[in-house]
Amino acid sequence: MNILVINGPNLNLLGTREPHIYGSQTLADIEHELTGRYPEAHFTFFQSNHEGAIVDALQSTIGKDFHGVVINGAAFTHYSYAIRDAISMLMIPTVEVHISNIHLREEFRRHSVTSPVCVAQLSGFGSNGYSLAVEMLLYHKSSQGKTSE
Ligand code: DQA
Repeated sequence: MNILVINGPNLNLLGTREPHIYGSQTLADIEHELTGRYPEAHFTFFQSNHEGAIVDALQSTIGKDFHGVVINGAAFTHYSYAIRDAISMLMIPTVEVHISNIHLREEFRRHSVTSPVCVAQLSGFGSNGYSLAVEMLLYHKSSQGKTSE
C-alpha cells in the first residue's frame, strides 16, 4: 500500500511549536513511527508551508500507484478551496488528521473546508491520529466493493 502523507504549514516545527497543544514529537518522530508501525506500507512524506506546493503534491498521485492520502493541512484546512478541490478530484481516499481537537478550539478552527471531500476526519488524538488515519485507509481498502446495509 502506497500512502502519501502531507503536512501543511508550521508542522515542520512540531516538537517545539506550542508543545502544550501539539505535543513534543517532531514530524520526523511521527514519520519514523509510521514506517515502524506499518512495515508493509510504503510512505511518501511531504511537508510544505505553501498552498500551491500541497496542491502539486496531491496532483502528483494522479496516474501513480498510490492507494491513499493522509493530510494534516494545518491552517489551510480552514480556508483552502484549492486544496479541497485537489483532494476532491482524486480517485483515491484521503483522511484528514489534526493533532489537536479543532472542535474544542477557536471558532475559526472548528470549520474544515476539506473534510467533506475526505473519507474521515481524525481530530484530537495527538500524533496517534496519523496511525489511526492509516488504519482508516486499510479499513477503507478492505471494505471497498462491499455495499452498506
Ligand atoms: C492543526 C490544527 C490547525 O487549526 C492548525 O492551524 C495547525 C495544526 C492540528 O494538527 O491540530 O497548524 O491542523
